Amino acid sequence: MNQSVGKVMLVVLLVAVVAGSQGCVMAATPASSSAGVAPIGPAVAGGPAKVPRPTGTLTDGSKIVLLAWNDLGMHCFNADFSKIAILPPYNNLYVQVVRVGEDPAPITAGLTVEYRYPDNTWSVGGPGKPQKSNFWTYAKALFGVSLKPDVGLTGRGLAGRLDAKDGYFVAEGIPVTDKSDSDAGTTTIHPYQLAEVTVREASGKAIAWTSVVTPVSTEMRCDMCHCKDGDACIQAGITSVDDVYTNILLIHDKRQTASFQKFGFKPLATSTPLLCASCHSSNALGAVGKPGVSSMSNAMHRQHANVPDIQPTTEGCQHCHPGPETKCLRDVHSQTLGFQCPTCHGDLSTVASSAQPWLNEPRCDDPSCHKNTSATQIKQSNALYELSTGHHGGKIMCEACHDSTHALARSREANDRIKFVALQGDGTYLTKCRVCHGVDAPQGNTKAHAPIE
Ligand code: HEC
Ligand code: HEC
Ligand code: HEC
Ligand code: HEC
Ligand code: HEC
Ligand code: HEC
Repeated sequence: MNQSVGKVMLVVLLVAVVAGSQGCVMAATPASSSAGVAPIGPAVAGGPAKVPRPTGTLTDGSKIVLLAWNDLGMHCFNADFSKIAILPPYNNLYVQVVRVGEDPAPITAGLTVEYRYPDNTWSVGGPGKPQKSNFWTYAKALFGVSLKPDVGLTGRGLAGRLDAKDGYFVAEGIPVTDKSDSDAGTTTIHPYQLAEVTVREASGKAIAWTSVVTPVSTEMRCDMCHCKDGDACIQAGITSVDDVYTNILLIHDKRQTASFQKFGFKPLATSTPLLCASCHSSNALGAVGKPGVSSMSNAMHRQHANVPDIQPTTEGCQHCHPGPETKCLRDVHSQTLGFQCPTCHGDLSTVASSAQPWLNEPRCDDPSCHKNTSATQIKQSNALYELSTGHHGGKIMCEACHDSTHALARSREANDRIKFVALQGDGTYLTKCRVCHGVDAPQGNTKAHAPIE
């Protein structure tokens, strides 16, 4: 399970409206009760189309259980691609199908796994279907590829089949947006989109299905400071316009005149649409950038480290990561232990100093967190939690039982909990051994990590 090149991992970049901040509101955002912040729909966008049934029996009599998750707790992409692109729509769904019994094992042979979004079936739109994103208008100019409507950078659409790998299935690059069909055309966003995932036998017979969150948000609100006459525009001394991204480019051009001359780069404000990663490398996009220019993460966090409104708190990070409405951090650490983003990541300067952004992240088995001892045996098998496997035989991915970072069960969001409730009757992480072993204490053991008795 190597980090694949060009993998768009991501992030939800959201901007929070911080109490007391002087941020203004993007002119293009229709007025709403929460001053320019996109309103969020009900927890269950459309609700699961089918009541989940994550367990079933194959024709040969084996019982199986279906585990599904999104690898990242949130993916963020631009609400508008006409001027700049930081990240495209791009989510990754993972599935493990475990044969239940005394000798459980993840299986893939003879099975197909499909995904679809019952309440999110288009992005580009057409008659009677309001456009949900203008990504497709600018994809060629930004990413150099011609994409069919609703098809993302890896050739996937909003419904399809996962690829079978060694012990798991994956669908990489699903271009899902945060707009549901049911209220498309309104400004309401639904960051906790529900995918329906179905396991079929070769005959086509559906064996098991479940509902799994695909977290996605456009709540990346640079407008808080970069709107017309916003703090950043005033401070930089530019003549700001009614377009947030143009203002950002105007500041960039002004501040970087010297380095642009050195590198021979053209001013950005007149070179749109442009991909920031065409110069600033980003491991999220597999983009190497231009020699001598800092990575996107280093540049962004370093530049904003001293902006007074951006405190080392969750609210501070949510000026760009999603966000006061999306609140992407919804996991057990935040809900039960009161963790904030910097508790695990450090402040902006710390984030800005990463030599390998996206690949160098906090670890669960960090000695100051969940120490890996002979008694606990909590050890990542990969530098990234999302790619690690655990449990006694090392074949079950950590996220199959605990869910993704920032959403680690038990999550605040009802949508995240649906699949766990369907599996074991409660919304916490997978604690019931019975789900896979068929018994409560497999061979006398009651712990998923501690040494086998
Ligand atoms: C809390 C306020 C705030 C937010 C939110 C914010 N910025 Fe900024 N940004 C600033 C300030 C202040 C400056 C510096 C202005 C100056 O003094 O020149 C700045 C400068 C910049 C620059 C110029 C960098 C350079 O030196 O060339 C870029 C690019 C930029 N911001 C991009 C963004 C993007 C993209 C977002 C959203 C993801 C964002 N900013 C969100 C306050 C903010
Ligand atoms: C044509 C190349 C180019 C493009 C495209 C580009 N930048 Fe830059 N950027 C630079 C250079 C060169 C610098 C100054 C050197 C450095 O920071 O490595 C810089 C500096 C910055 C800084 C300030 C870093 C600091 O430490 O103060 C920020 C923030 C930034 N860029 C953000 C962005 C964003 C956001 C985008 C997309 C909207 C973008 N850049 C697009 C070349 C580019
Ligand atoms: C001014 C906007 C802004 C603020 C504020 C901000 N970020 Fe980011 N962050 C970004 C952008 C843009 C990216 C995407 C970089 C890329 O595309 O590679 C990013 C990416 C990241 C990443 C992934 C890349 C990496 O370096 O590993 C982490 C982790 C991260 N941010 C953490 C934080 C934390 C923690 C805070 C608060 C302490 C924070 N950010 C505040 C804009 C911001
Ligand atoms: C409990 C610790 C913890 C907290 C709190 C936390 N993170 Fe993370 N974060 C992680 C870990 C661990 C990873 C690596 C995830 C992986 O490998 O899949 C990560 C990864 C990331 C990434 C890279 C993309 C990804 O999802 O892998 C970004 C961006 C990020 N965090 C931003 C934030 C922001 C913003 C906050 C607050 C809203 C936050 N984090 C709060 C532990 C935390
Ligand atoms: C998500 C499915 C799943 C859950 C839940 C689960 N296990 Fe397992 N377990 C497996 C699989 C699959 C194996 C086989 C080794 C491997 O592939 O990792 C295994 C192996 C084991 C083994 C090694 C002996 C053997 O049968 O191979 C023990 C002991 C064990 N599990 C105990 C537990 C306990 C105790 C719990 C509950 C706290 C639990 N397991 C929950 C899937 C699961
Ligand atoms: C088969 C399901 C399963 C898998 C796979 C799994 N865990 Fe766990 N995890 C559990 C259970 C159940 C517990 C509760 C303690 C126990 O049973 O050992 C737990 C406990 C933990 C704890 C301690 C939580 C606390 O409250 O102190 C951490 C941290 C943890 N796991 C991390 C991981 C990591 C990292 C991986 C992947 C390397 C992983 N787990 C893989 C089921 C799993």
